[in-house]
Amino acid sequence: MQPQFIIIHRQVAPYVAHIQLNRPKELNALNLELMIELRDALKMLDADDNVRAIVISGNEKAFAAGADIKQMAGKTAMDMYNIDQFSTWDTIKKTKKPLIAAVSGFALGGGCELVMLCDMIVASETARFGQPEIKIGVMPGAGGTQRLTRAVGKALAMEMVLTGRFITAQEAARAGLINRVIPVELFLQEAIRLATEVAALSPLAVKMAKESVLKAFDSSLEEGLHFERKNFYLLFASEDQKEGMQAFVDKRSPVFKGK
Ligand code: CAA
Repeated sequence: MQPQFIIIHRQVAPYVAHIQLNRPKELNALNLELMIELRDALKMLDADDNVRAIVISGNEKAFAAGADIKQMAGKTAMDMYNIDQFSTWDTIKKTKKPLIAAVSGFALGGGCELVMLCDMIVASETARFGQPEIKIGVMPGAGGTQRLTRAVGKALAMEMVLTGRFITAQEAARAGLINRVIPVELFLQEAIRLATEVAALSPLAVKMAKESVLKAFDSSLEEGLHFERKNFYLLFASEDQKEGMQAFVDKRSPVFKGK
């Protein structure tokens, strides 16, 4: 069945797929149906050997303005519990291939949280990041208090979460929330370029490197170092390691097969 709220472009560049959030009239507010489609698309692309990196974008005006407030407004706590509003996020979080967010305009609430689930973030000069849930009587629920704090530190995270203030792309870059700021007409192109660069490398090494960096967020240094070393050793079981090192010795470009 064709998705209704997202558009999937399977090959926007070699081994690069692009998912566009597509509820423009609602500023890409993340209703449950969109999140299910996004989860299913990511699962499909994660299993597709012709995809090695995935770009997620909205449009120029909005990446996403948060969870769908109109859909949530009348819900009770038990409704939220039974719907398990954020269970889709648990699957998205498990995506093994690198996710690159291309952000322009609003990335608010769940939109900012979705951006922070991605591995690298390219923003346009017009991007605005915020966790404004406090202004509607709640608080972030999809990782905002945790991932934002780890990314930008306590002072700025507290300010954003407690006042709902939006930060500009430049401020987000200075705070270490995003990778780079790009003129609005080029932000998607730059995200695809970055994805293409990663997609040209060994997909096995990329996946294990992603997994290892993420391990730093929920392990002690000792555990993380142990995990890293195991993955490093494990990559010596791959053809890509032989190819990558032989190509260096031969002074030629490697051709990685993901084996
Ligand atoms: N949910 C549902 N609809 C939304 C929405 C949201 N999060 N954000 C915007 N929309 C809708 C508006 O209701 C409006 O629809 P109508 O034309 O039918 O009225 C349309 O999108 C355009 O929005 P605005 O007219 O408000 O546009 P604006 O340019 O004047 O303002 C904005 C833009 C500042 C982003 C403003 O829309 C806004 O504040 N949105 C809500 C942001 C927010 O609070 N996000 C957090 C949601 S809760 C959450 O995300 C919880 C979590 O942790 C997962």
